[in-house]
Amino acid sequence: MKKVILTGDRPTGNLHIGHYIGSLKNRVLLQNTGDYETYIMIADSQALTDNAKDVQKVRENVFKVACDYLSVGIDPSKSNIFIQSQIPELTEISFYFQNLVTVARLQRNPTVKTEIKQKNFEKSIPVGFFCYPISQAADILGMNADVVPCGTDQLPMIEQAREIAHDFNTIYGELFNMPQPLLPDGKFSGRLPGIDGNQKMSKSLNNAIYLCDDEKTLREKVFSMYTDPNHIRVEDKGNVDGNMVFLYLDVFAEDKQKVAEMKEHYKRGGLGDVTCKKYLYEVLNNMLAPIREKRKYYEQNPQLVWDILKQGTLKAKQKYEAVCKQLKQKLGIDYFE
Ligand code: TRP
Repeated sequence: MKKVILTGDRPTGNLHIGHYIGSLKNRVLLQNTGDYETYIMIADSQALTDNAKDVQKVRENVFKVACDYLSVGIDPSKSNIFIQSQIPELTEISFYFQNLVTVARLQRNPTVKTEIKQKNFEKSIPVGFFCYPISQAADILGMNADVVPCGTDQLPMIEQAREIAHDFNTIYGELFNMPQPLLPDGKFSGRLPGIDGNQKMSKSLNNAIYLCDDEKTLREKVFSMYTDPNHIRVEDKGNVDGNMVFLYLDVFAEDKQKVAEMKEHYKRGGLGDVTCKKYLYEVLNNMLAPIREKRKYYEQNPQLVWDILKQGTLKAKQKYEAVCKQLKQKLGIDYFE
């Protein structure tokens, strides 16, 4: 039997090149190996845990994220894209998992801790948000996924899911296998900083390069990138550390030799920011051009996108139904079976 992959994203905005390099590209590679049965979740219910008053935003982004997936090469004949909220079994599974997790354990989750600060939830945390790691464990275990491709920020969630799997199996009998995280190859599995050097790429900071950005927007963003503030004249010696242009070139340029030479040149002086930015623009534009092209096709055929989502959701639901049924058997609450 093929191993099962489960991964996903919250639909709170268009996906950006940080998502691409940190997870989407890897998903396409994994999908194309043919070694896995792949499920990719658009986690709209999870998105609502911190956007309860912004349902419209979440709703709109379900379609946008689906277009992002399809345009980077997630192929619906190989991967199932599905919508979390359409699978009631997930809520059911989460409910039983809640009995296996303590408040203290949730409070220790580093990702939740960071997010509580970011979202100003310190004084009052919505219960749904606080419990989302449990719901995410249901996403993963409820399909008995083997592998969860993700970035480093999701590792605490997978750890939490593994603990729940272990505790469930110990108390009620073996049901869940231990899901493994899978980080992308290479040095980049963390977060790509924004074009302004801020650690987080976000819409509100207006510092992200989106997969759907057109050439003009891309050019403007690349040319406004944070470099070395002390590198004023071309002949000045420049600093490549903390310089976003070089950080992005390290991550995205394939010609590593060229980047190494540019860095040396920049450091000894004589290489201007504009030349570096032009090159980075070229690199990013070459990467984004085919993605934009594909996106156009899907945006012009919304019904096709909804059909893909519907088919994917039906397939995912079957998997969740089967596991949910077994879970209730293990708990002994299958009264009418
Ligand atoms: N928490 C993920 C994010 O912030 C989204 C997500 C929901 C997910 N369920 C998942 C990721 C299951 C991997 C596996 O984007």
